[in-house]
Amino acid sequence: MPRTVIAQISDTHIPGIGEETHAWADPVGNLTAALAHASHRCAGVVITGDCAAKAGTDEEYAAFAEVIATATVPVWLAPGNHDDSAKMQRLFNLPSVNGRCDYVVDLPGGRLVVLDSSRLGREDGSLDESQTDWLDKQLQGHRSLVVMHHPCIRVGGPLFDSIRLDKDSTSRLAAVVARHEVYAVSAGHAHMSCFAAFAGTQGMIAPSCAYEFGMVDGTFSYQLGEPQYLEHSWSADGSNYLARIVTVEPSLWRSIR
Ligand SMILES: [Fe+2]
Repeated sequence: MPRTVIAQISDTHIPGIGEETHAWADPVGNLTAALAHASHRCAGVVITGDCAAKAGTDEEYAAFAEVIATATVPVWLAPGNHDDSAKMQRLFNLPSVNGRCDYVVDLPGGRLVVLDSSRLGREDGSLDESQTDWLDKQLQGHRSLVVMHHPCIRVGGPLFDSIRLDKDSTSRLAAVVARHEVYAVSAGHAHMSCFAAFAGTQGMIAPSCAYEFGMVDGTFSYQLGEPQYLEHSWSADGSNYLARIVTVEPSLWRSIR
């Protein structure tokens, strides 16, 4: 049975042309490679926020637009805390509900629900009551994958756990998700891959396509990111949901003879 495959790329942090974020990172090269790989396999790519390197400037979005134009499948976007949601909606012609970048994409065997958890000027995330009410209606009668920038699960470190989806939003989200058939609630933001139970389904955090965070000897640290994404797939009848991390970098792979 054919499967519906979606690539979730996150935290691409694309700088404006000529601007640098970190000399050691290659966000443009990584995103280009990830999109090329995903274009061969997926029905579409969803980028779950921090599309822009720092502050959602026109220059960052011009550079980001150039890179995502290389994809040969649809690219869906959700804003993160380094983005400007209103500007993204305008520049990329994104659908919205009450000014929030919330929308659905119907695919064989499942519905992708994109939620806007970003709040301009805030690092943590939030969902209004109107957004969780809207979500409740969108999930009705569908098997769905829900994505947004801010995680609804903890990563175990005080820094990121203090800037995840806020407590009140997480409680309302959990109550809604528990009433429906949801494959997973998947986010980005933490720049590390994490998986945990959430509201009768799975909470996930996709890796960053730019650079990864972690603790080394008790110190908050980073490492060079790889062109990588979280792949979600299910059968066309909505069964057999599967998630896996895909690392694209060809130099990491060795042939088995
Ligand atoms: Fe980020």
